[in-house]
Amino acid sequence: AALSVRDALRARGASGERVKVQGWIRSARSQKEVLFLHVNDGSSLESLQVVADSSFDSRELAFGSSVEAQGQLVKSPSRGQNVELKAEKIEVIGNCDAKAFPIKYKERHPLEYLRQYPHLRCRTNALASILRVRSEATAAVHSFFKQLGQHLHHPLALDSGFVHIHTPVITSNDCEGAGELFQVEPSSKTKVPKENFFNVPAFLTVSGQLHLEVMSGGNSTLIEMKEVVKDLNWLGIRAFTRVFTIGPTFRAENSQSRRHLAEFYMVEAEISFVESLQDLMQVMEGLFKSTTMMVLSNCPKDVELCHKFIAPGHKDRLEHMLKNNFLTISYTEAVEILKQASENFTFTPEWGVDLQTEHEKYLVKHCGNIPVFVINYPLALKPFYMRDNEDGPHHTVAAVDLLVPGVGELIGGSLREERYHFLEQRLARSGLTEAYQWYLDLRRFGSVPHGGFGMGFERYLQCILGVDNIKDVIPFPRFTHSCLL
Ligand code: 4AD
Ligand code: MG
Repeated sequence: AALSVRDALRARGASGERVKVQGWIRSARSQKEVLFLHVNDGSSLESLQVVADSSFDSRELAFGSSVEAQGQLVKSPSRGQNVELKAEKIEVIGNCDAKAFPIKYKERHPLEYLRQYPHLRCRTNALASILRVRSEATAAVHSFFKQLGQHLHHPLALDSGFVHIHTPVITSNDCEGAGELFQVEPSSKTKVPKENFFNVPAFLTVSGQLHLEVMSGGNSTLIEMKEVVKDLNWLGIRAFTRVFTIGPTFRAENSQSRRHLAEFYMVEAEISFVESLQDLMQVMEGLFKSTTMMVLSNCPKDVELCHKFIAPGHKDRLEHMLKNNFLTISYTEAVEILKQASENFTFTPEWGVDLQTEHEKYLVKHCGNIPVFVINYPLALKPFYMRDNEDGPHHTVAAVDLLVPGVGELIGGSLREERYHFLEQRLARSGLTEAYQWYLDLRRFGSVPHGGFGMGFERYLQCILGVDNIKDVIPFPRFTHSCLL
C-alpha cells in the first residue's frame, strides 16, 4: 500500500525503507543529472521531495500530473526537510496539460479567480489548507461537545457530554418564521404525484433547533423517573438532556454578501435545565475557544498559511479574541452606543429595529475587537420560541447574538419559552397554533427551562482564518444565481 505524504514526511529516521507514494506534482525541476519533484497528496501542506536521475523523462513529469513514485526514504541534504524519496521507479498516472490547466505553476492565484473553478481549486495550497482546517474544526466541535459535560457547573450537570443528533434536512416547518424557504418536491419524472409526495408542503430546513428541542428534554419519562429512582445513578436516563448537531441548513435569502450562503452548515446545541443566558453564553464562548485551540494545535501549518498569505495580521487578531473574556452588552445599551455614532451609518440605529451589519461591525470595534454578546432583544424582532422577559414597555426576549470582528453575527441563540400559556399566546398571535401543536406538547409533558444556539460554521471559519468571503471556506458554495457543479 502507498504511504501518505504526511506519513512519509514524519518518518524522521529515514530508515532507507522502501515505500510507494502517490500524489500530484507540485513542482518539477531538473538540475544536471538529477530531477527534483515535489509530490503532494493533500494529506499535508508540505510536499515530499522525490529525487530521480535524469533518465526519467522530465517532460512527462509536469506540474499537475498525477504520479506514483517508488523508492527509498532517505535523509535529505536539502534545507527545510528531513527526508526525501530516492526514486527507483516513477510512473505518470494521469498527464496534465499545463497550458490548459487554469492553475499555473508558482502562481498565487487570488481566491476570487479560483472561485470560477470549484472542481479544480482544491488543488491549490490555499484551498487545501482551508478545507483541512474545516475538517479539523468539524472534529474539534464533536470533541468539544463530548467533553463539555465535565466543565459545566450546573447543579444538574452530567458527567457525560452531549448526544449528537442527526436532525432532518427535509421538514414541514419554518423554524425562524422568516419565510426564507426552499420548497422540496419530486422531479416531474418521478411516478409520485408532484403535489402530495409528503401530503404537506415540505422544505429544506433553515435550522435543526426545533428537532433538537424535541430531543433535549421536555421528556416526561425523565421527570417521572427522577422521582422514582432518586438513588440511582441515572445518567443513562438523562442522556438526551443535552444535544447538538452540525449539519447543512438552507436559506432562500436574496443576498450575495461576503457572509451569506444559500446552503451553509450550522453547529447547534440545545440544553435542558438552563435558566440563564449567562450559562448559555459560557457554552458559546467555550465552543469558540476550545474548538479554535484544538484546530490551532492539530493543523498549525494550514492556519499559518492562511494567516500569512490570505489575511496578514490575522494571527494577532485571533490571539486577542482567544485571550480576552468575551464582553456582554444589552440590545438597549447597544442602541445607545450606536446612536452616539449615528453619523457613521447608512441606517440610523433605533430601538426596536434590527441591528444592521454596519452596526454589528461598529459595536465590535467599539468593544476593542473582542467578541461581544448582545442580549435581550425586542420581542417584536424575534421568532415565537424565544423566552419572554416580561419587562414592561421595552418588551424584550432572552435572546443572545455573539458578534465577532470582521464577520458580525456569528452565533444566535436564546432561552426558549418553556411556559405553556406564554407559548400558546405567542403562537396564536403568529397564527401558528395549529401547526405547532407538537411543539406545545413539549411544554405540556414535563416542560423544563432550556436554551440553545446556532453557530454559522462558515462564519466561524472566516473568523478564525481571516477569510474575507464566505464562498472560500466551503467546498461548493451555493448562493443567488450560482450553483456550480
Ligand atoms: O441567527 P440564526 O438565524 O439562528 C437560528 O437559526 C436559530 N434557530 C439557531 C438556534 O438557536 N439553534 O442563525 C444562526 C447562525 C447565524 O448567527 C449565522 O452565523 C449563521 O447561522 N447564518 C448564516 N451563515 C451563512 N449564510 C447565511 N445565509 C446564514 N444565515 C445565518
Ligand atoms: Mg440571527
